[in-house]
Amino acid sequence: MSGTDKVQETGAGAIARAAAALRAGDLVILPTETVYGLAADAANPQAVARLYEAKGRPSFNPLIAHVASLEAAEEVAEFDERARRLAGRFWPGPLTLVLPVRRPARVCDLARAGLDTVAVRAPAHPVARALLEAFGGPVAAPSANRSGRPSPTALEAALEETGAAAAAALDGGPCRVGLESTVVALLDEPRLLRPGAVTRAEIEAEIGPLAEAEADAKRSPGRLARHYAPNAPVRLGAEAPRPGEAFLGFGPGAPGPFNLSPAGDLREAAANLFAMLRAADATGPSGIAVAPIPEEGLGEAINDRLRRAAGFVG
Ligand code: TXA
Ligand code: MG
Repeated sequence: MSGTDKVQETGAGAIARAAAALRAGDLVILPTETVYGLAADAANPQAVARLYEAKGRPSFNPLIAHVASLEAAEEVAEFDERARRLAGRFWPGPLTLVLPVRRPARVCDLARAGLDTVAVRAPAHPVARALLEAFGGPVAAPSANRSGRPSPTALEAALEETGAAAAAALDGGPCRVGLESTVVALLDEPRLLRPGAVTRAEIEAEIGPLAEAEADAKRSPGRLARHYAPNAPVRLGAEAPRPGEAFLGFGPGAPGPFNLSPAGDLREAAANLFAMLRAADATGPSGIAVAPIPEEGLGEAINDRLRRAAGFVG
């Protein structure tokens, strides 16, 4: 049961109905510029419990609270100057900030996995913004995949993963970025918890050096080793496919049909990554071989997802 009957146009009526579904404690499939999310009222523990259940996610993995603006974010979290600077530069957009939770907490304990911190992000996608404004409170929205699977970057993939649990689904077209947001913790020294669509260099240009995520794994408890994984085993750094393998190429001359970017452009590769992993997986290969991707700029986030898809800790 794919749930295609739940797809809504994205006019004002559909946005109002989706906001009403959130108020009623129901789940909504929501497009963002990074990946599709499965959304719930972040203040409603029953709704958040249904979210974890729909994803099959360990309940110790905290969720991102999505908000419409910096003003709304400041009601949820304690901002310092560094946080305001990053939000000013990258919001609305694909950057998540982990900050001390503001009391009384607007994001329920379950959504924060009991932590005294909260992750906040103001997404840029116009449909996400419209829903967040119509709803008026923080919205918990993990990627709409089942736990451990590749994030959906198109509505059809989101419906396939978690559509059965959603009361409504908003169609925002294919995701422009295609990789999840960058997660930065600003608790003591700034730390990169998850490389993502905003690069390390872009963040360091604003607030100086970022400490490593690995040294601080406790703060991003959801970062399981095998994550973003298709059904077929993934082999990295492959120059060519072996018999039976599907091949994800990168750059000019790589054999089709799955070339992440014929031009060798990391932005294009990021946008294609999850959709091509899914498409390659759907051919039923013995494995998925992936060409080497340069570890610069967005390549850091792409390689992080690929290492997790292959079952290595990033
Ligand atoms: O691009 C995105 O961020 C997408 C779209 C839908 O917005 N959402 C997303 O959510 O990727 P999710 O739940 O799949 O990933 C959230 C990440 C996890 O790695 C989680 O551990 C981390 O953020 N996180 C959330 N709250 C945290 C906290 N209080 N402390 C540390 N890490 C946190
Ligand atoms: Mg996810």
